[in-house]
Amino acid sequence: MRIFITGGAGFVGSNLAVNLKAKYPNYHIIAFDNLRRRGSELNVKNLRELGIEFVHGDVRNSEDFESLEFDVLIEASAEPSVMAGMNGGRKYLIDTNLNGLVNSLEAALKQRAKVIFLSTSRVYPMEVINSLNYEESQTRYSLHVNNIAGVSERGFSEKLSLDGYRTLYGATKLSSEYIIDEYVHMFGLKAIINRSGVIAGAGQFGKVDQGFLTLWAANYYFNKPLSIFGSGKQVRDILNVNDLFDLIDLQIHAFDKFEKERFNIGGGLDSSVSLLELDTMCKTLLGDKKVAFQELRGLDLKYYVSDNTKINSLGWQPKRNVTNTLKEILFWIEKNEKELEWIFAS
Ligand SMILES: NC(=O)c1ccc[n+]([C@@H]2O[C@H](COP(=O)([O-])OP(=O)(O)OC[C@H]3O[C@@H](n4cnc5c(N)ncnc54)[C@H](O)[C@@H]3O)[C@@H](O)[C@H]2O)c1
Repeated sequence: MRIFITGGAGFVGSNLAVNLKAKYPNYHIIAFDNLRRRGSELNVKNLRELGIEFVHGDVRNSEDFESLEFDVLIEASAEPSVMAGMNGGRKYLIDTNLNGLVNSLEAALKQRAKVIFLSTSRVYPMEVINSLNYEESQTRYSLHVNNIAGVSERGFSEKLSLDGYRTLYGATKLSSEYIIDEYVHMFGLKAIINRSGVIAGAGQFGKVDQGFLTLWAANYYFNKPLSIFGSGKQVRDILNVNDLFDLIDLQIHAFDKFEKERFNIGGGLDSSVSLLELDTMCKTLLGDKKVAFQELRGLDLKYYVSDNTKINSLGWQPKRNVTNTLKEILFWIEKNEKELEWIFAS
């Protein structure tokens, strides 16, 4: 089997590539990346050493990958920040996330390859989520379940309304989903869409606008300043990247079971954490540290927890909790301390 991973040197893409190669040594894995994300370049040597083919290219240029052959395409290249486009860079965001997606779908059609698309919980509008009722405890918001489609004590399902504003990043992902639907309907493309909330684990070069678990762990570890925006009671469920691998593995090998569907996937309520709770976990593991409080950012969500009911019914559920994931991240930072310090310092 030949598996082509766009964004293959990024956090998710490289983790999937490494896990696939470890489990299926005979598979040909191609990691394709333009190395735009700070830190992705550090993964290339490891990918090559493991026998994964690395191709330096750009999804915006179809000629960069038109000669490659593959059976499955995992679309994991993106400008993945919710803040993307706020201070310029809108053309890059749209060219990569949308035109890059179209180039990838065209390549998949030509190769008769199956597509797995990494979408995001950010397709759900901010107002829809922030206007729900929440109860506020000492450390977190909890969802007060109203009679609203897609909302339950388990979190948010695929039935949550899509009506409203969602950030430019979310808009590129939702548009991509609609384009994929048309390719499926009009041209017979085989595709699966996974909408995930926060994905975390070793190998993520976290920054303020994306990858907060790693950012927190790294700033504690390297003793860098940290700020909580708002009350710190905002809650996210955390999907360990190795749990994501288990799902992608299942989907690649039982594609028919999942195809033409979109799934909310995440750590779920049992693997959810607020910033205040994460901060306490870091204090317990790494010692005390003063954290500043700043005004809430406009694009923040009070709460996001994935209701995994639909994907659970097809045989997948996450196994790792937030503590496991945080410990994996800290182990990775400790092991690669010298290389990582300058990245997390900037
Ligand atoms: N990490 C998360 O919490 C999360 C959550 C939901 C969805 N996702 C989605 O998962 C995918 C992977 O995210 P990630 O966290 O690994 O991000 P990442 O930034 O670590 O990886 C993305 C990779 O894409 C590459 N890239 C960017 N523009 C490119 C281009 N024009 N051509 C080729 N490569 C390009 C980057 O260099 C980077 O290595 C993205 O589609 C993202 O939207 C991520």
